[in-house]
Amino acid sequence: MLGAFLLAVGVAVAINLVLTGLILFAGATVGDYGECTVRVNGDREVKAAGGRSLLSTLKDSGIFIPSACGGRGSCGLCKVRVEGGGEPLATELPWLSKDEVKGGVRLACQVKVKGDLAIRIPEELLSVAQYEVEVASIADLTHDIKEVRLKLIEPGAMTFKAGQYVQFEVPAYKLTDEPVYRAYSISSDPVDRGAIELEIRYVPNGICTTYVHRHLKVGERVNINGPYGDFRLSDTGRDVIFIAGGSGMAPIKSMLLEMARTGCRRNAEYYFGARSREDLFLEDLMQRIEREMPSFRFIPSLAAPEGGDEWSGETGLVTDVVGRRAGDVSEKEAYLCGSPLMIDACVELLKKKGMPEDRIFYDKFS
Ligand SMILES: Cc1cc2nc3c(=O)[nH]c(=O)nc-3n(C[C@H](O)[C@H](O)[C@H](O)COP(=O)(O)OP(=O)(O)OC[C@H]3O[C@@H](n4cnc5c(N)ncnc54)[C@H](O)[C@@H]3O)c2cc1C
Ligand code: FES
Repeated sequence: MLGAFLLAVGVAVAINLVLTGLILFAGATVGDYGECTVRVNGDREVKAAGGRSLLSTLKDSGIFIPSACGGRGSCGLCKVRVEGGGEPLATELPWLSKDEVKGGVRLACQVKVKGDLAIRIPEELLSVAQYEVEVASIADLTHDIKEVRLKLIEPGAMTFKAGQYVQFEVPAYKLTDEPVYRAYSISSDPVDRGAIELEIRYVPNGICTTYVHRHLKVGERVNINGPYGDFRLSDTGRDVIFIAGGSGMAPIKSMLLEMARTGCRRNAEYYFGARSREDLFLEDLMQRIEREMPSFRFIPSLAAPEGGDEWSGETGLVTDVVGRRAGDVSEKEAYLCGSPLMIDACVELLKKKGMPEDRIFYDKFS
């Protein structure tokens, strides 16, 4: 009897020991993928401890992929062609076309590096760098948009095209436990390579905009990376329609500064939508550009002018104003920047008015 009891206890202890061993083994190995190699464009090799996202692994090796949402899977910008990364996750599918899925395109922020991978990225991304910058000035453009001038410290100069954007690194602070990145279009003239300007609109409780509007100080040093994006003025010579709202002003301003400086003679109309007078800004600059570039017209409109606004200009949504004033657009091209809602409405309108879709370029601030 005692023998049977001792045997049962012994078996139970043995099973327990085996189970504990298995659990310890699993704990030590699950999530430990050892050193993995990511081969980039066939020649460059990145070696890193596995287990992190492909986006972070590349960033730590100085390869920056556009990631406007900071890796949350909600911008769809971090596309890379991956061999060996497995099937796309359900979170990636809304961002990928059938051809992209077939071709192995994945969102780098959603791919976990668990073994060796081979990836392909556009060559131009290999020249994107991280910059340490110093805040040179912060100015109010409106009640909710600030212009932030950043002096480049290391490297000390950036080459970018008018219309491109950078990613601003928000350090950990009370709204975020870890650094996060957000995209901001460069609003300054590309000729000024030693400093860049951003126009940042406050989003209530937004991680980056709260930091910039409530905490960022002149003299503070932060990191940015870039430049990114292919929202750039073509060299077709066609007449141009610019349409923007709010901080969508930023990349258009950069394009206009460059056009004025280089003596561009293209006909250009700029429709800028604001809610009321207090949301309108940079009118003096736009008037100066009109004087320097006689083929340019700035057409601001107010959607909801207030009693004291004393406004004799255009009123209504910017789409209504474009609909009324733009005339025949079939031979022109358009550059749109602002909220996804505004852009979708403008694209529909321009197509209805006869502009081919492949001549409508935009940057959605999603
Ligand atoms: C290519 C690109 C260029 C951009 N350039 C500019 C620029 O020049 N100037 C600029 O101000 N912004 C720009 N943005 C938007 C910017 O990247 C951020 O998304 C925005 O500043 C909000 O960041 P946040 O960290 O403060 O808010 P988050 O912490 O990301 O968001 C907080 C909450 O607000 C919501 N939210 C986020 N953005 C908005 C919004 N715009 N309006 C209303 N609710 C919102 C979110 O859904 C969330 O619920 C750009 C975006 C892209 C993709
Ligand atoms: S970083 Fe935005 S979807 Fe990947």
